[in-house]
Amino acid sequence: MKIAPSILAADFAHLGDHIKAVGSEADLLHVDAMDGHYVPNISIGSPVVASLRKATDLYLDCHLMVANPGDLLDAFAAAGADGITVHVEVGDTDSLLRRIADLGCKVGLTLEPATPLSEVEKFLDRVDTLLIMSVKTGFGGQSFIPEVLDKVKSAVAWRDHHGRSFEIEIDGGINAETGAAAAAAGVDILVAGTAIFAAPDPQAAARGIRQAALDARS
Ligand code: DX5
Ligand code: ZN
Repeated sequence: MKIAPSILAADFAHLGDHIKAVGSEADLLHVDAMDGHYVPNISIGSPVVASLRKATDLYLDCHLMVANPGDLLDAFAAAGADGITVHVEVGDTDSLLRRIADLGCKVGLTLEPATPLSEVEKFLDRVDTLLIMSVKTGFGGQSFIPEVLDKVKSAVAWRDHHGRSFEIEIDGGINAETGAAAAAAGVDILVAGTAIFAAPDPQAAARGIRQAALDARS
């Protein structure tokens, strides 16, 4: 079970300190890039990834919510991204996944809550991570959509049936309660923004999510 704090909910003026506040409870850092086109919101881009790279050794899990990810892959890889995840909804998936791999990054593919798993199945033999969105992308702090748990279970079944080993990650509205439900459904990586960084003690919050997830699995 891995915990990926989403820095979208952190204090951007004190990002380095806020990341340290999660301490050893962070297994990777989730970095949300939003361009104001694919989603209405604007967040951060590769310059912030370059700064994070100097501040931490944690795996930088970059989720591109942008209309033209192909224009940004080189910059994210050069900045130090470990993994890059693109949305199947923007198209050109074949070439984007190949380019991410060629850049030496782990390959991630994601889909919106309304997009069926069948849209990504043909690419799953080439991904390291399948990110299942549990809110419509664009903003932190939204409520978890429980119906996506069926998609998680279908993805786990598909992976078992085809003998693949990609990790299944979930993103949006994750806290101890929803994280436990996701873990029970078979998720490997829990992304949590608000539940960690808006908590008075981010490390304790992350530990609580991990413990709830582990309990749900046992
Ligand atoms: C949503 C982002 C998420 C977001 C999660 O568009 O992709 O990663 O930061 O935030 P919470 O955990 O607050 O829902
Ligand atoms: Zn995200």
